[in-house]
Amino acid sequence: MKKNILFAASEGVPFIKTGGLADVVGSLPKNIDTEYYDVRVVLPKYVCMSQPIKALLTYRTHFTMDFNKKNEYVGILEYELDGIKYYFIDNESFFSGIHPYGNDGYLEIKKFAFFSKAVLSILPVIDFRPDIIHCHDWQTGLIPVYLNERFQANEFFRGIKTAMTIHNLKFQGKWSVKEIQELTEFPPYFFTPDKLEAYRDANLLKGGLVYASAITTVSETYAEEIKTKFYGESLEGLLNARANDLRGIVNGIDYDEFNPATDKYIPFNYDARNFRKEKIKNKRALQEELGIRQDEKMMMIGIVSRLTDQKGFDLIAHMMDEILMDHVQLVILGTGEEKYENMFRHYAWKYNDKVSANLYYSEALSHKIYAACDAFLMPSLFEPCGLSQLMSLRYGTLPIVRETGGLKDTVEPYNEIYSTGTGFSFLNYNAHEMLNTIRFAERIYYDKKREWNKMIDRAMAANFSWQVSALKYQEMYDWLI
Ligand code: ADP
Ligand code: GLC
Repeated sequence: MKKNILFAASEGVPFIKTGGLADVVGSLPKNIDTEYYDVRVVLPKYVCMSQPIKALLTYRTHFTMDFNKKNEYVGILEYELDGIKYYFIDNESFFSGIHPYGNDGYLEIKKFAFFSKAVLSILPVIDFRPDIIHCHDWQTGLIPVYLNERFQANEFFRGIKTAMTIHNLKFQGKWSVKEIQELTEFPPYFFTPDKLEAYRDANLLKGGLVYASAITTVSETYAEEIKTKFYGESLEGLLNARANDLRGIVNGIDYDEFNPATDKYIPFNYDARNFRKEKIKNKRALQEELGIRQDEKMMMIGIVSRLTDQKGFDLIAHMMDEILMDHVQLVILGTGEEKYENMFRHYAWKYNDKVSANLYYSEALSHKIYAACDAFLMPSLFEPCGLSQLMSLRYGTLPIVRETGGLKDTVEPYNEIYSTGTGFSFLNYNAHEMLNTIRFAERIYYDKKREWNKMIDRAMAANFSWQVSALKYQEMYDWLI
């Protein structure tokens, strides 16, 4: 008998994406062995999904669900892709807005509390009883709680296990106990520090971490880091208490989607054999497209990122003038905090033939940057896994990273003596350490081109497809059932 697994998440490629969570939810399920597992995915149906995507989804049925003392509409849409069944929960009063996530804390909580309860409520309706519900991030933190508090009283739900994967501990879904209690109608004893309460607020992620049968996060190093005060975001106590149920499984990326040999977004395809001749053509094309100096010999460093403190942009901001004193170009693609958008706008004006600041979201440009650049900069303050550096490795673009979380687990630092490594890294969150590491990379790039190219060989040979990690998830599913 196949084991039934249900993924519940707030975003997933190709339907809706704001960051790496969507890449994982879009690519992990299809790498789970279909001979032994029936994996399905449930997502919200956001009004802001693109028209062509919405046109694919077909209406299945609807019902009403008691939520926040009202009878709320729950529509179910569905779609099958690459053998995976996707369900979408529809209610436009919760999932409207121009972006999947909004700024109003309480509305966000309400949106995802509704989603979490609806995920459980649709199961008898779609006639799918999962053995495991695999929840992702705080938006689905209430699923294990609702299951325990309410649904398990019903025969259909009895014995369903849950796994909670932490993609980013920074976001927890916190709000006042009083309002969350009213919203969820959980009895008061759920709001104690050993359950949903943390530092006087109710905390949805914490609820998930307390009630989930197993906990995972997206790299081994991050799994260790979050048990410490610096990375634990105030939940290190709980994560230590649950250390036996916590494991780190490093993310993979979709090797079909991110493949320089077949990528439709890049002008010149290449592979591990011909990158020495072909990759550079992508650099020339991008220099021309972005209107920066056309000099194929100049080292080009790329950044594709949410512009937030997490990603180390204060270090970069601090060192922009120093970096740009050197013979390098910087190509940025990202959106986020205004101070960083303005910072990059300023430097693109100041060094207009060396800096290109693209402050928007573009799948196409992101692929062109992974293909065209020589190096990729990602000096994160913390990084649960990070996918951009995996994409860079795959395209032979050498990552320059800080040794934290998944960056530490996936980028092997260059060793000049033994001629090993796939990128460059530094340990301390310090702007000068970052600068020195960038300059070390520049030296190898300009003075030891053969070494640089051998590093590209190793980077492109590294395997961060889902092959190995999907097996580790399967092991966890088997252990849980
Ligand atoms: P995080 O999930 O913390 O944002 P990851 O490195 O795990 O970081 O994943 C980021 C994903 O989002 C990658 O697929 C990256 O290419 C993509 N991305 C980030 N910013 C943009 C952007 N402005 N345009 C296109 N893709 C982007
Ligand atoms: C989060 C993390 C990132 C990780 C992604 C997917 O957004 O910030 O490090 O790669 O989730 O797991």
